[in-house]
Amino acid sequence: MSEPVQTPQTFPTRIFSGIQPSGGLTLGNYLGALKRFVEKQDEGIETIYCLVDMHAITVWQDPAKLRHATREAAAGFIAAGIDPARSVLFNQSQVTAHVELGWIFNCVARMGWMSRMTQFKDKAGKNSENVSLGLFAYPALMAADILAYKATHVPVGEDQKQHLELCRDIAIKFNKDFGVNYFPVVEPVIEGAATRVMSLRDGTSKMSKSDPSDQSRINLTDDADTISKKIRKAKTDAEPLPEHLDGLKDRPEAKNLVNIYAALAGHTPAQVIKDFAGAQFGTFKPALADLAVAKLSPITSEMTRLMKDPAEIDRILGEGAARADAIARPIVDEVYEIMGMIRSRHM
Ligand code: AMP
Ligand code: TRP
Repeated sequence: MSEPVQTPQTFPTRIFSGIQPSGGLTLGNYLGALKRFVEKQDEGIETIYCLVDMHAITVWQDPAKLRHATREAAAGFIAAGIDPARSVLFNQSQVTAHVELGWIFNCVARMGWMSRMTQFKDKAGKNSENVSLGLFAYPALMAADILAYKATHVPVGEDQKQHLELCRDIAIKFNKDFGVNYFPVVEPVIEGAATRVMSLRDGTSKMSKSDPSDQSRINLTDDADTISKKIRKAKTDAEPLPEHLDGLKDRPEAKNLVNIYAALAGHTPAQVIKDFAGAQFGTFKPALADLAVAKLSPITSEMTRLMKDPAEIDRILGEGAARADAIARPIVDEVYEIMGMIRSRHM
């Protein structure tokens, strides 16, 4: 008995996204995710944002560093424009619905689907016998993060596209297995000029908080001087910027800097190329450095200010968690009902 597949339009629009507090936030997180999170909130859509500490522990985390990174990421969200009164902002481990639904989805997702996840293959590398089981199961927990809220739209960077396809597959299979139209089939929101910000040292690998080289990335905690130096030292080729966008093909480092400029300025890459056609990097890099400092410095100083009061950050996360729980709890309880679990405990 197969039911027609539900389209997201039949569910009220609700945005969910998450970032791992496994290190500091980078310019990649900011342009690929955080900046978009703020825009969605400011459009007046219901927005739920989560610091996914349960995802972070798929690789070992030093407890003191995890605590610090979670608070710092929360400060980064708020400094970048997330308003805890308008968005729900919390850390994942305070809302147990995520892991409960995560287990259920471990039983819905197929080994074959999980084995095709390229991020697992990249992260595990030759070490796949020795990584945690959690790292393998992680995309099922990610689907649970989203579907515990019946979220319909998920803003992410390009690297998360495959995980969102898996989330769609899980929703479709659950609906079909139980003959319901319970979960929405989510829409990825991958928008803007910088959906994949590349390393400043290698235009073919992603800018990442886990890259051993700090020169490869801009951290939201870097001061103005550090940001400038990193951009000026960024790897490039020797050619000036082209007259047209297609001239960036096969020039990954140049393309990356143009995309970063465009995303920071709120322009298209084509506009940036028009403004800087024929410019040498000796001209373009200082302009980019000035722009990056102008856009990022206010965020960095606000983060520093917020970090002076960790108790206030914890309070905000706690309040967000209570609001998140109020949405997710009834959804997960209904899932248990659908699946035939006896629910007779007095609450
Ligand atoms: P993560 O740091 O892996 O938890 O990523 C959190 C969010 O930031 C996800 O939506 C990612 O797609 C996005 N993101 C991470 N790194 C980059 C990058 N280099 N470029 C664009 N988006 C990124
Ligand atoms: N997997 C995402 C990343 O590493 C983080 C994440 C966890 C997430 N749960 C999510 C993103 C739910 C969007 C929605 O970048």
